[in-house]
Amino acid sequence: MSRLEGRVAIVTGAAQGIGAGISRVLAGQGAKVMLTDISEKVEATAEEIRREGFHAEYFLMDVTNAEQVESVVKGVIEGHGRVDVLVNNAGIYPRKRLVEMPEEFLMRMFDVNVFGMFRCARAVLPSMRERRYGKIVNISSVTGPMVGSPAGGQTAYASTKSAVQGFTVGLALEVAQYGINVNSVMPGYIYSPSAFGTRGSGDAEDADEAMREFGLRIPMCRQGTPEDVGNVVLFLASDESSYITGTYIVVDGGNILQEEFLGPYEPK
Ligand SMILES: NC(=O)c1ccc[n+]([C@@H]2O[C@H](COP(=O)([O-])OP(=O)(O)OC[C@H]3O[C@@H](n4cnc5c(N)ncnc54)[C@H](O)[C@@H]3O)[C@@H](O)[C@H]2O)c1
Repeated sequence: MSRLEGRVAIVTGAAQGIGAGISRVLAGQGAKVMLTDISEKVEATAEEIRREGFHAEYFLMDVTNAEQVESVVKGVIEGHGRVDVLVNNAGIYPRKRLVEMPEEFLMRMFDVNVFGMFRCARAVLPSMRERRYGKIVNISSVTGPMVGSPAGGQTAYASTKSAVQGFTVGLALEVAQYGINVNSVMPGYIYSPSAFGTRGSGDAEDADEAMREFGLRIPMCRQGTPEDVGNVVLFLASDESSYITGTYIVVDGGNILQEEFLGPYEPK
């Protein structure tokens, strides 16, 4: 029996990277997954999942556009009768030092990474409350709530991800009595085209090599995959986590545990 048989899940930022991985894992466990993104690539990602024999639909949806969010959620509820799972994954992480940071940069980071989650949750909550069932999973990061990059340029990003933790706790308390769970996942270094991509050559082998090399800095000797995050989201979206709310799970191969770096690490 698939763990999410027949459940309806909306994933934001699902065209590529972690959002695409989450969508694949949820669909593979029987969920009807609604992939949403601002990028048109989301159509091809949904098509790939369908080719594997699972249920995937796509919607162009910008999480900074409240009307669009409301209208997509309304369409999903009309089409499928409900939304069981919302995965707030869409996020951006350009780096900029505070002294060089234009106001628009700061506002955009919060608009996508934080307020986007508010808009999506607000849109799905009335129907979840009515059905007394719902799972909201917010993709945060270890960056901000737990660690920072010595290279700098992450004050805005780190602040948005810390805000996601506050949002998770505050909302979890607001909706617990309606049978709705709200949790977050804090990924460490996960392979995605934006985070690592290729070295500019567009060559997939280069990307694999960059990922392998980077993995040697992580105690578990490898970089994370979008599916590593997807498997944790699966748990938080399933009934196996029904008594867990307002908390977080770190998915980072042990990376933030290090007080000092003794790598490079090789499998033993
Ligand atoms: N990759 C990592 O190492 C890592 C680590 C920790 C946390 N995260 C978080 O995971 C999430 C996904 O990251 P990723 O690495 O897969 O990034 P990515 O850039 O590969 O994918 C993000 C997706 O979000 C979409 N998106 C951007 N702005 C949007 C908007 N306004 N509305 C809707 N969609 C939008 C993009 O088009 C893209 O498809 C982000 O929230 C990120 O902060 C990533």
